[in-house]
Amino acid sequence: MVAQSPFAHADDRHPHDDIAIKVRGLRNAFGEQVIHDQLDLDVKMGEILGVVGGSGTGKSVLMRSIIGLQTPEEGSVEVFGVSTIGPADSEAQRDIRRRWGVLFQGGALFSTLTVAENVQVPIREYFPAIGDDLLDRIAAYKVVLAGLPANAGPKYPAELSGGMVKRAALARALALDPALLFLDEPTAGLDPISAAAFDALIRDLADTLGLTVLLITHDLDTLHSVCDRVAVLADKKVIAIGTIDELVASDHPWIAEYFTGPRGRMAAKADERRTHGADAQTEDKQR
Ligand SMILES: Nc1ncnc2c1ncn2[C@@H]1O[C@H](COP(=O)(O)OP(=O)(O)OP(=O)(O)O)[C@@H](O)[C@H]1O
Ligand SMILES: [Mg+2]
Repeated sequence: MVAQSPFAHADDRHPHDDIAIKVRGLRNAFGEQVIHDQLDLDVKMGEILGVVGGSGTGKSVLMRSIIGLQTPEEGSVEVFGVSTIGPADSEAQRDIRRRWGVLFQGGALFSTLTVAENVQVPIREYFPAIGDDLLDRIAAYKVVLAGLPANAGPKYPAELSGGMVKRAALARALALDPALLFLDEPTAGLDPISAAAFDALIRDLADTLGLTVLLITHDLDTLHSVCDRVAVLADKKVIAIGTIDELVASDHPWIAEYFTGPRGRMAAKADERRTHGADAQTEDKQR
């Protein structure tokens, strides 16, 4: 199977710049507690970058800094060449915010709104002139795009299963046809089969829509099956970034334990089975 170039879709949009997110010298602290210090990160255009790290190492805070919800003490953050630090109401900021979608840890849907109404929230904010009929049609399309049945639109979050809540949150993240997706623990709490289906959906959407994705996850299967590269957050920095094969070769104790410990080995084996299974199927078809 030939791997698709991570830049396959991006080149036509940004021929001169292959970096979607550029973080330099980031420092975040809450009181005495320093979360990030001198953190650098590049996310390439068109790639799915996984972000891993122990609980509380600052993965969610990193995502919040990139999307401008957390103002860092020091450092710079650029998305598509535009700084995301600064007054949120500037023209450039509004324009850049419109180009990303976010799935927050835990889903964070508005519980008093239906799924369809949740999807419409960002559209109403950025395109207030769009009428109700068109809003309904766009929301219906996003609901199906996120793999929900069409009849999920009128339901309230409390009426959905955990997996459906994640898909509804994904539908909302896709509302504005983003070029960039931020997913914070999208498969946490899902059973392995639902998680695998969600992984496949993310990979498919990224490939077909040409998305760049920053994907925070603890799920080793997700890392293997979805991500082009993985960044490891530890010691307040991104201590390593690369393909899983590159990271496995690392001698950093946390990285070695993470990828080559019992769970890491199981995920690697499952990935091998998936890949070889897919190869065998392709060969069968070619015969
Ligand atoms: N608004 C805040 N005020 C004070 N401390 C905060 C705030 N947000 C996060 N923190 C602290 O920053 C640290 C990093 O939090 P963060 O949520 O980024 O961790 P994480 O890597 O996403 O963890 P997990 O894997 O459990 O989701 C934690 O110690 C947390 O308590
Ligand atoms: Mg988190």
